[in-house]
Amino acid sequence: MTSISHIDGVTNGDAQALTLQRGDLLLGRQWIGGEWCEARDGQRLDVQNPATDAVFASVPDSGADEARAAVDAAHAAFPAWRAVPAKQRAQILKRWNDLVIAHQEDLGCLISREQGKPLAEGRGEVAYAASYIEWFAEEATRANGDVIPSPVAGRRMFALKEPVGVVAAVTPWNFPAAMIARKIAPALAAGCTVVCKPAEDTPLTSLALVKLAEEAGVPAGVLNIVTASRARAAEVVDVWLDDPRVRKITFTGSTPVGKHLARRSADTLKRLSLELGGNAPFIVFDDADIDAAVDGLMVAKFRNGGQTCVSPNRIFVQSRVHDTFVEKLAARVGALKVGPASDPAAQIGPMINARAVDKIERHVRDAVERGARVIVGGTRLPALGANYFAPTVLVGADSRMACICEETFGPVVPVTRFETEADVVATANDTPFGLAAYFYASDVRRIWRVADTLQTGLVGINEGALAAEAAPFGGVKESGYGREGSVHGLDDYLQTKYLCQGQL
Ligand code: SIN
Repeated sequence: MTSISHIDGVTNGDAQALTLQRGDLLLGRQWIGGEWCEARDGQRLDVQNPATDAVFASVPDSGADEARAAVDAAHAAFPAWRAVPAKQRAQILKRWNDLVIAHQEDLGCLISREQGKPLAEGRGEVAYAASYIEWFAEEATRANGDVIPSPVAGRRMFALKEPVGVVAAVTPWNFPAAMIARKIAPALAAGCTVVCKPAEDTPLTSLALVKLAEEAGVPAGVLNIVTASRARAAEVVDVWLDDPRVRKITFTGSTPVGKHLARRSADTLKRLSLELGGNAPFIVFDDADIDAAVDGLMVAKFRNGGQTCVSPNRIFVQSRVHDTFVEKLAARVGALKVGPASDPAAQIGPMINARAVDKIERHVRDAVERGARVIVGGTRLPALGANYFAPTVLVGADSRMACICEETFGPVVPVTRFETEADVVATANDTPFGLAAYFYASDVRRIWRVADTLQTGLVGINEGALAAEAAPFGGVKESGYGREGSVHGLDDYLQTKYLCQGQL
């Protein structure tokens, strides 16, 4: 593998130049075993700007060889990294956090260019990512075990926490920085080493983050990134699934892929953290503060253009307040400014690719054919580009519609009128998924009743912005298991070893 000190592979067919303060954060090679390297067979993967579909960079398109080399490196680096005192690991993570913050502008530009979100959101995501690195830097020093009172004389009993080993992280395109940070920071804090495959649409942000991690002092082999196209991703991940040296898989993405990973990792009984699909209900009761509910929905729904796994997918509004809510919502949604990340006024960017827009369009068409009415939007925006869809409000949505049964992952708000609390909670829970739910109400007894009954891992009560580094993020049912963030997020990378000392 060839070492380089800088990038290459930037083809730049994009009309708009990507100017970074630190040009060397735009990397065209992957990081394996402490070297910036190509795929052995020289294959490349183009990176496109979703705003224009123009190719503006490329990275290696790797396969099984590189996947294996990454595990070899991570496995070799593990004994030394786990032996580094927790305080020293914490200091390295703190330096990584500082570097990420120092390069917020460059990282924000990279995120926006390859993922499409407005620049303000790109910058915001960098701060969000850094918050996880900082949190786990602090948690690294608190991986305490237990001293257990012995039930018999002459013995001392202890429960120690130790790192699980080599972790394979497979990350999504919708938050290319935050999801890397939320998986890699706790793994490194716990003393694990990492092999990571970032999403094929958004490899550049992860490469830049890894470069900063290297500068912060993460030793060679401890963190390895393998880039691969959609066509070769399975080749990479299959190597990791089959390799008994990989002790944990952490994945954010679709439920079918999560189930595949669970099945395929059974032979080596790996630990799994799976953050999978959602179908979040957003319920507005008639005792809610309607303006606050509209505000909350705008935040929850339109963050990243609706391409968020906790994005409300089904909006239920109680009959008495339905029309007022819809009227206020329609005014807000109709005023949203859609445009490329390069437009400072843009609030909604392009969707990630043509497949995503096709799905959104299919959901809207299906809803209309089944009787829903479009109040705002409802169409593609070809004047802006192929990947844009207008923020949309539908009324009269019901459970036969694809937009209610499946996660739309776009800027579509399907509203359903409901009559009673019992009915709406039953309907909200009538899905295989259980990631997030939101509701707005003021009666305190109702608040606790509904919060207790909703079958989701996260519940927003009179709040549309749920996620935070100090909170446990994760689902129930077919939305997966494991938690990211909070003290629980570190525990997912630790195993408990019981020591019993006798003859005392
Ligand atoms: C996700 O969409 O996977 C994560 C969203 C979040 O962190 O809020």
